[in-house]
Amino acid sequence: MQIVHSIAQLRAALAGQANTAFVPTMGNLHEGHLSLIKLARARGGPVVASIFVNRLQFAPHEDFDTYPRTWDSDCAKLEAAGCDIVFAPSEQDLYPEPQTFKVQPPAELADILEGHFRPGFFIGVCTVVMKLFACVQPHVAVFGKKDYQQLMIVRRMVQQFALPIEIVASDTCRADDGLALSSRNGYLSAAERLEAVQLSKALQAMASAVRAGATDLDALEAQAMQTLSARGWKPDYLTVRRQSDLQAPTPGAALVVLGAAKLGSTRLIDNLEV
Ligand code: PAF
Repeated sequence: MQIVHSIAQLRAALAGQANTAFVPTMGNLHEGHLSLIKLARARGGPVVASIFVNRLQFAPHEDFDTYPRTWDSDCAKLEAAGCDIVFAPSEQDLYPEPQTFKVQPPAELADILEGHFRPGFFIGVCTVVMKLFACVQPHVAVFGKKDYQQLMIVRRMVQQFALPIEIVASDTCRADDGLALSSRNGYLSAAERLEAVQLSKALQAMASAVRAGATDLDALEAQAMQTLSARGWKPDYLTVRRQSDLQAPTPGAALVVLGAAKLGSTRLIDNLEV
């Protein structure tokens, strides 16, 4: 496995290669990331993973400085998973001057749900993903469904900019108790880790109710918020949306339930397709 830190080194490593599959990450890798690498591997071309904690997608009060950086174990995991090239630029490499050109996703996709609670988050994500795409020039890029809104927005960005990149979605990996794997799970205390599964439980209950024909979605959402609040969580949202654009459900549309809630100081997100 080759490790490159600059765009020039990356271009040299990829010269003459076709069919590159790309997995962008912020490191602190877990089984969820490795399942993305596996999907990338299955495409047959070289697999590039990036590790870059992207300051642009963190608000000043968020965890950019404390975001776990686990370089050695990340590299060992990527190598074992069959990654060919790790692209790990420094901030100076990727943003040698302030990144004043940005990708601004439309408000109706990016200012709802995560974007409502994390203003500017998807500008940061789209800008770095666009820049990483320009560096790697992949044929395929793999994203996890755990970040459902991110996946939806990246798909639409690729479509609207006519980028010749196929976006592949990977199912969420879960711990034995059902908790969605996330780099931020490492922030949870032992007691919080036991409680954390309640977010996916609340989403499961909502999904079951929708499948069973529940029509009062406002009541369903309010009840789920209340259940988590009563257990000491601070929920941002638990909601039923259309899969395609995360707008309010319409008859016949495929649906997804999504949730975000804080447990102690850790904010967790999860979702389930109905
Ligand atoms: O999902 C992530 O880890 C990040 O948002 C991404 C796509 C690597 C962009 O920084």
